[in-house]
Parts: sequence; C-alpha cells; structure tokens
Amino acid sequence: MNDHRQNLHAFARAMPKAELHIHIEGSLEPELIFTLARRNGVDLPYASVEALRAAYAFTNLQSFLDIYYAGASVLLYEQDFFDMAWAYFERARADNVVHAELFFDPQTHTDRGVPIRFVIDGLHRACVKAQAELGIRAELILCFLRHLSEEAALATLEQARPHRHQFIGVGLDSSEVGHPPEKFARVFAAARALGLHAVAHAGEEGPPQYIWDALDQLAVERIDHGVQALRDAELVARLARERIPLTVCPLSNVKLCVFAQLRQHNLRELLQRGLVATVNSDDPAYFGGYINQNFIETLDALDLTGAELVTLARNSFDASFASEADKARYHAQLDACCREFGISR
Ligand code: HPA
Ligand code: ZN
Repeated sequence: MNDHRQNLHAFARAMPKAELHIHIEGSLEPELIFTLARRNGVDLPYASVEALRAAYAFTNLQSFLDIYYAGASVLLYEQDFFDMAWAYFERARADNVVHAELFFDPQTHTDRGVPIRFVIDGLHRACVKAQAELGIRAELILCFLRHLSEEAALATLEQARPHRHQFIGVGLDSSEVGHPPEKFARVFAAARALGLHAVAHAGEEGPPQYIWDALDQLAVERIDHGVQALRDAELVARLARERIPLTVCPLSNVKLCVFAQLRQHNLRELLQRGLVATVNSDDPAYFGGYINQNFIETLDALDLTGAELVTLARNSFDASFASEADKARYHAQLDACCREFGISR
C-alpha cells in the first residue's frame, strides 16, 4: 500500500463521524448471543458460535431477517438490552463515532412477552452512559416492523408513549417489498403529531416509488438505504433539491445481494449527483463490520478521494438530528482532523 493510500485509510478511521443507520439488534455478536442464551436459559438452534456464524450466508433481505430475529430471541431483560447497546458503543468509540442514532425494533421483543420498558430503559441507560463516559451523543429511533399490520404499529406507539422523552423518532424496517410506505401513513402521522422525527427504509430492494411514497405519504426526513433512487431521474432531482439524506450501508448491500460486488456500488454516483449520502453499518454483527470497516472497504473498492471521505463525514452530521450547536462542534472537529492528516476539502 502506498503512503497516500495509507494516509487515506488512517484519515477514514480517525475522522469524527455520525452513524445514522444501525439496528442495535444487528450489533448482537454471536459471542454475546451465546452468553445471553446461557444467562437466560434460552435454547438456540445452533450448537456453537462457529455454527451460528456459518449460517450468515444471505441471498436477500428476508434470508437475513429470519436469522436476525432468531438471534434477538435471547434478549429478555433490561440488562440484556443495556449490554447489547454498550458493546456497540465501545465499538463505535473505537471507530471515532461522535454521534449515533440507533434503530430498535420493540415489536421483535414485545411479541415474545418482553415489556417495552425493559427494551427502552436498557437501551436508554446505555445511551446516557455513552455520553458520560465515551463522549458519544446517542439517540434512539423506534422502528415499526413493516411485515406486521398498521394496527400493531399503532399499538406499539401507544405502548411507547410513556417513554416519549427517551427516543427522538420513528422508522420503518423489516421486509420491504410488498409492504409499501402507505400501509403506515396513519401511524407516522400520529408519531409526527407527538413531535417525533420520521425516517423509513425505502429503495433497499424496493422500487423508487417506495421512496416517493415514504416522502409524500410518511413525510420522512431521511431515507434509509435509498440506493434504488438512481433508477428514477426525477426522484434524484427531488432528493438533491430538498437535500433529503440517504443512509447508505455498503457492506449490507453486498451481503444482501443488492449489489453483486462492492466495486459495483453506486455510492460515488450518489455523491456526484449531489445527494446527501452517508456511510453506515446497518447490522454490523451480520454484515462483516462496523462503520470504519464500511469506510475502508468502500474506499478501496471505489477508490474514494479524501474530499469524498470528508463529504461523507460532513453529510453524516448534516443528516443527523443533532442540535445546530452540536453540528457546528462536529464540523469543527472534522476540520481539525482534516488539517492533521493534510486532507483538503
Ligand atoms: N432492512 C430492513 N430491515 C432491517 C434491516 C435492513 O437492512 N436490518 C434490520 N432490519
Ligand atoms: Zn437497515
């Protein structure tokens, strides 16, 4: 590796960044799954950590979700949710994440009889500790499972209402195709009426129309994934004009066969079309790495420039729900890092 590339790698690792697309249940490493299974007396259909890891060969989103929900079955108590989130924050700190907005899926747990307060209190306790001990500002975004009904989503929002101060927004995840955004128009309107932010997965496997519908029917402020947008020039123009961020997850897209190879990923084209694209890990325990691994592998595969890396980090702050004061602080930290590594913006 030449000196220039080595410096870019070091810069990509060191630069302060926000992570905006991480499913906290997708950060559950096989080792922690087995530890929690033993602690809680949960039987797993896998004999060992190695056997579980060997099952992580996915052909599409659904093939992943089946294993992801099985892994989450070991989470029963408040402490389990805390431990999972704390393990993520330690990894995030190592990757110089200064701001994180974590997705969580309450229905995955409440449908197994876990009280929603165990879920939210455990995750929120880890967020508070991350701020105090690691200097990471962390927020929670409650996601509705789109393969379930809107009535179930409305009931979940109602259950979460006493915890309104512990999360900042709502999202939409799980099986995309066949579950269009408009299915959730009422629950998103109710969430927005509570002053919550709104985001949704759209255009991961689904068509550009799902991105239009997430914007028009759910009034979302960001699109999660959104990589299918390039199939629709009018949509690209709108996303650029309105500066709607896309939370892109390169390693996830390859693992779930959205792109055959990382070299074929459209991240650079998204940036060149003027879209506010960001890099994120999605489900790092399942997809081959945390946020810096996503940056490093994408940097190598697409031969990203220093200026493109800076744009991605800048975009992550602009796309976040941080206060204007925090955003200004993050940008200043990034500027200092650019000077340290001799990266021009
Ligand atoms: N897409 C949809 N739902 C999800 C994902 C994803 O990548 N990860 C966890 N739930
Ligand atoms: Zn996701």
